[in-house]
Amino acid sequence: MRIIKTATYDEMSHTAAIFILNLLYEKPNANLGLATGFTPKGLYRELIQSQRTLNIDLSQVSFFHLDEYLGYRPTDSESMGHFLNEQLFQPLNVSPSQIAYVPALENESGCQKYEALIASQGEIDLQILGIGQNGHIAFNEPGTPFWKRTHIAQLSDDTRQANARYFSSGETPSHAMTMGPATILKAKQILLLVSGKNKANAVKAMLQEPLSEDCPASILRFHPRVTLILDQDAASEIDECAFWSGDEQLHVHHRSDGFLKPVQKVMVAAPHPDDASIGCGGTLARLKSEGHELVFVSMSSGHRADIPGTTQQERVEIRAAEAQHEAHLFQSPHVLLSLDFYEQGYIPSSADIQAFKKVLKQEKPQIVFSASDKDRHPAHAYSAHIIKEAISQLAPFERPELWFYEGPWFLFERDDFNVVVECSQADMSLKLQGIQAHDSQVSRKRYDLAAQALSQFRAITTPESRLSSFGAEIDDCGEFVEVFQRVILDYRDL
Ligand code: F6R
Repeated sequence: MRIIKTATYDEMSHTAAIFILNLLYEKPNANLGLATGFTPKGLYRELIQSQRTLNIDLSQVSFFHLDEYLGYRPTDSESMGHFLNEQLFQPLNVSPSQIAYVPALENESGCQKYEALIASQGEIDLQILGIGQNGHIAFNEPGTPFWKRTHIAQLSDDTRQANARYFSSGETPSHAMTMGPATILKAKQILLLVSGKNKANAVKAMLQEPLSEDCPASILRFHPRVTLILDQDAASEIDECAFWSGDEQLHVHHRSDGFLKPVQKVMVAAPHPDDASIGCGGTLARLKSEGHELVFVSMSSGHRADIPGTTQQERVEIRAAEAQHEAHLFQSPHVLLSLDFYEQGYIPSSADIQAFKKVLKQEKPQIVFSASDKDRHPAHAYSAHIIKEAISQLAPFERPELWFYEGPWFLFERDDFNVVVECSQADMSLKLQGIQAHDSQVSRKRYDLAAQALSQFRAITTPESRLSSFGAEIDDCGEFVEVFQRVILDYRDL
């Protein structure tokens, strides 16, 4: 999460406007998701001002409304649609064809229709959000499962009280139709604005407390591109913030050197059961041959894999048996976690994090190997987020190191990896056997050949300091190399 702290509400609004104008300069036909409420008013004012002074063409932008009181239409004076019309659309001269309102006159079918509409327009490029004092985003109140998409929500008493000022009757409606956390997570970028002392505790819970459905905004920590712009008052309860970043130091593990200190335990977490050997099987083989302990963890059951003529239950069993077989080849134990995020459109829950934390506490590894949090495959990225969050919830002295491996869905750029592991022919042959243990997959797609080719490619390109751009020359690493990104949890002042 990128965090920009500003002095005042006006500065927050101005910074947010520059952010949006930049995006529109890059993508004039962007899909913008819009929040209502007090917080974005200043931003909307700035946008109107900019359009007038800079003559910006917004005719290709599409606007998507975030949430609406149930049964309200945009023409109703107390509706959120009306707020947007007044605060933004009319002053900007936006044509009705550019606006998608939440269909709050409809029921469940309206929710599905709205989801389908967003998807058919190529998803939201930038979602603007505010946060409630209780940590809500849109009308996702505390306790809302993160996997929910557009749905009808019952508003909490807190929220109804906070919004009563917008209703002449002094009473806020009890229900709303709202994009869900999972809808918001699908946006390509998120811009979260927060202002005022009354939001300081919500900001603290979002950034510093364990990720939980009790603070819906905390799930934003799992989105790869969130910018939080907040003013001094909103930031007043936090001083420092945790950030994961790549270790600057380069570590090259030639076969002639011992790899790690004696008897370290390494946990390899596979988002799908076959990812461990594909991602880092050569390194696992080398670690084992040098006397270290390994433990394999399958984060999901992987039952959606294509295994013709099988039922879901059969696929669960086939894939579990294959993962067991793989671990057995490495003479190591296997833990099948089958986390729920795999069943819920890859969106994790706090229960998933607790389950992984429990395994960490039981196994006490010194290093965890994981897919990267930047992996294109959502199962891989969210598995990495679960792991990062579970590690950060441990006491500092209990925390293992975290190394990301690359794989078929995600290759490192030249500056990403900072650990280079040389593997022998024997290491590679165990890696290939590990991949082939997943017969149901490798008989369909030759992941073994792809993984071997990648290790050879890395062995050829990595020694070229010019290509790897670390400045230092890396000695020749033989025929096979696997690379990792070692990431470090750092606390920085806000
Ligand atoms: C509004 C919305 C809400 C608000 C939040 C903060 O569309 O979805 O989540 O962003 O309640 O409201 P303000 O900015 O009025 O404090």
